Amino acid sequence: MSGDVVNSKKNAGYYAADLVMDGNIVGLGTGSTVFYSMERLSERIKSEGLCIKGIPTSIQTAIRARSLGIPLTTLDDNPKIDIAIDGADEVDPDFNLIKGRGAAQTRERCVADSAEKFIVVVDAGKLTRKLSAVVPVEVIPFALTHLCEKISDMGGLAAVREGVRKDGPVITDNGCIEVDCDFGDIDDPECLEMKINNIPGVVSCGIFTEFKEKIVVIVGNESGIEIL
Ligand code: 5RP
Repeated sequence: MSGDVVNSKKNAGYYAADLVMDGNIVGLGTGSTVFYSMERLSERIKSEGLCIKGIPTSIQTAIRARSLGIPLTTLDDNPKIDIAIDGADEVDPDFNLIKGRGAAQTRERCVADSAEKFIVVVDAGKLTRKLSAVVPVEVIPFALTHLCEKISDMGGLAAVREGVRKDGPVITDNGCIEVDCDFGDIDDPECLEMKINNIPGVVSCGIFTEFKEKIVVIVGNESGIEIL
């Protein structure tokens, strides 16, 4: 990652963390940008005595939050979240998102859905006129071949995501398989999201179109942020 991108992510992440208020239940997304939000939340807990509870969207986020001293809770114990902070892989002008590079999109969707405010933190490189990144899809192992055939019928190209320093597929935190599906330019994200999520065996895909009403996108740059 270049220095510019690191600073941009940090500026976006820190700004979002400063929106969190005392007593909030905070959805903690997954990824490098949210990591900066957690770093700033940790600072605020130590310096201001900020009192919050985080709900992590992945094992990785839970481990990081614990190491930063952020108290955690669960969605079962706190089904209403005040503010969720999460990253994205692409954001279009209508606030449609592609998420799931970290294979955490299912829990991220649950947390976004339960949140009153959904703060998306990105660097400017994530903004696009039209979504076209690969669409991550989490599928139960039983339905893997079925999913790949359905994606092909829909004009997409499905590739099982391979582990790094682990042979074979990426197994998600939910015990499922992550499949990256390439559709090229996505003309109708809402329709594609619905079609993929309706394939039997799919847990959740990485297209998020349903949170427009409550999304605030914070775009970090080298010197600060812009709010969309
Ligand atoms: C994980 C995600 C991430 O939020 C998304 O990939 C952005 O990550 P980063 O902030 O590292 O660029 O969806 O499943």
